Amino acid sequence: MLIRREVAGDVEAIRAVHTAAFASQAPDGGTPVEAGLVDALRAGEGWLPPLSLVACALGGVVVGHVTCTRGTVAGRPALGLGPLGVLPEAQSTGVGTALMHAVLGAADALGEPLVVLLGHVDYYPRFGFVPAARLGVEAPDPSWGAHFQARTLAAYDPALRGAFAYAAAFDEL
Ligand SMILES: CC(C)(COP(=O)(O)OP(=O)(O)OC[C@H]1O[C@@H](n2cnc3c(N)ncnc32)[C@H](O)[C@@H]1OP(=O)(O)O)[C@@H](O)C(=O)NCCC(=O)NCCS
Repeated sequence: MLIRREVAGDVEAIRAVHTAAFASQAPDGGTPVEAGLVDALRAGEGWLPPLSLVACALGGVVVGHVTCTRGTVAGRPALGLGPLGVLPEAQSTGVGTALMHAVLGAADALGEPLVVLLGHVDYYPRFGFVPAARLGVEAPDPSWGAHFQARTLAAYDPALRGAFAYAAAFDEL
């Protein structure tokens, strides 16, 4: 498996990854919102090309994707991670782990201070995420509780506190 930046020819494969990865979470068996979310994010101002990464199996087939987009904490730059998806047939083989380490390393190298996400409390702590509230970072929806998590990077400043806002495309979910 290789992790690399998204290129123009990956758009349909990325949509297919999220459609399949989130199929079981889609209401009434319809198309999961995550598939269209990536397209909407890519068309928006918060899109950060260096932080849209794909995992390719041997032979070049895209089996996973992750992206971080521009968000803010009290108006200061931070990152929102998501969606993260892996094709069902490739899950539990380390693809998600590789994508997470790669995107966090890339964000750190770019000098970003903080990454937040809404996700499972059993999965993300292994990548250094803690409940965002512990850092004084507030979720857009208070009901998210401990599922709203944050990971500090080298450029983190403890004064980065307050309400987190995702890239605009997330508001259309
Ligand atoms: C969640 C997901 C990205 C993980 O990727 P993956 O390639 O399957 O994960 P890895 O092989 O790197 O890691 C496997 C570990 O993740 C755990 N895991 C996988 N999905 C999980 C989930 N939804 N919640 C909690 N833990 C999960 C496995 O139990 C396993 O744990 P272990 O190492 O302690 O045995 C992938 O399963 C997926 O696309 N799921 C559907 C979409 C989704 O829910 N995305 C995340 C939204 S928050």
